Amino acid sequence: MYSQGLDQRDGRHDGANTAEPAEALARFQARIDAEEKIEANDWMPDAYRRTLIRQISQHAHSEIVGMGPEGNWITRAPSLRRKAALLAKVQDECGHGVYLYAAAETLGVSREELVDALLEGRAKYSSIFNYPTLTWADIGAVGWLVDGAAIMNQIPLCRCSYGPYARAMIRVCKEESFHQRQGFEIMLTLSRGTAAQQAMAQDALDRLWWPVLMMFGPPDTDSQHSDQSMRWKIKRFTNDGLRQKFIDATVPQAQYLGLTIPDPALRFDDASGHWISGPIDWAEFRRVLAGGGPCNRERLETRRRAHAEGAWVRAAAQAHAARHEAKAA
Ligand SMILES: [Fe+2]
Ligand SMILES: [Fe+2]
Repeated sequence: MYSQGLDQRDGRHDGANTAEPAEALARFQARIDAEEKIEANDWMPDAYRRTLIRQISQHAHSEIVGMGPEGNWITRAPSLRRKAALLAKVQDECGHGVYLYAAAETLGVSREELVDALLEGRAKYSSIFNYPTLTWADIGAVGWLVDGAAIMNQIPLCRCSYGPYARAMIRVCKEESFHQRQGFEIMLTLSRGTAAQQAMAQDALDRLWWPVLMMFGPPDTDSQHSDQSMRWKIKRFTNDGLRQKFIDATVPQAQYLGLTIPDPALRFDDASGHWISGPIDWAEFRRVLAGGGPCNRERLETRRRAHAEGAWVRAAAQAHAARHEAKAA
C-alpha cells in the first residue's frame, strides 16, 4: 500500500511554514532538542524532509543494489548450510530495502519516483557495492566488514529524530548483526583452514578494507550535510567519528583472525586509545561515486533488467487490487 494520503501536505502546515517560519523552526528544533520523535504528519522544515528523503532512499537503494554482489555466490556456496545462511541474508537485505522505501514514502514521495531515480542513475547508493565479489572469501569479508560498517552506522539511526526511520532501523540492526556474525564465521573458518584458504581470506581483506572505510562517507571537513543533520538529530555521530569507531572495533577482530590490515601506517595511539589509520584515497571514492567503479555499470544494468522483468508482477498486483476494490464498492 502506498502512502498517497501523505502526498499532499495539509494547508495548515504549509501555512505555518510560510507565515511564521522562524517561530515554527524554533518550535521544531525545541521538539528535536527534547528528543521527541517527529512523525509523518507533523510539521517539519522542507530541508529536513528533503534530507530524510535523500538519506532514506539512498539507504534503501543500497540495500537493494547490495543484494547483487552476494546473490552472485548463492549458487556457488560451499555447503548447504552456507547456502541457507546466504539466501536468508540476501532476503533480509531485500526486506531492508522495502521497509526503507516505505519509510521514505511517509515523507510524501512515491516508491516509483525513488526507483526511477535509481534506474535512471540520478540517485546514489553505497559506493561499496560497485566492487566485485571475486571469491567465496569475499562473502565472508562482506558480512564481517560491510555489514559490520552498516551496524556502526545504523545503531545510532535507531535514535534518529524521524520516528518511521528510527523504528525501521531497530529490526534492520538485529538482522545486520546476524549478517556480521555469519561473515565473521566464514572468515574464521577460512583463516583456520589450509594455506590457500588463509590466502583467500587475506586477499578479500586486502581488496575490501579501504572501500569499507570509504562507506562512512567523505571526511568531516568535506561533508556537505553533516552539521545540519547533527543539529536535527538525524545523525548522532560524524562520518569520521563512526569510521574511527569501526576501525577500533575491527582491528582486534582482524588480529584474532590472524589477518593483516592492508595499511602499513596503521598504529595504536596510546594517548587517545585509538587505532590511527593511514590516509584514505578519496580520489578513488569520488571516482566510484561518479560511476567509475569496477561494477557501477553492471549493478545498474542488473537493477534495470530486474525491474523490466518484474513489470508483469506489478501489473498483475494492480489488476488484482483494482478487482478487489471494484468488488468492495
Ligand atoms: Fe541490510
Ligand atoms: Fe546486511
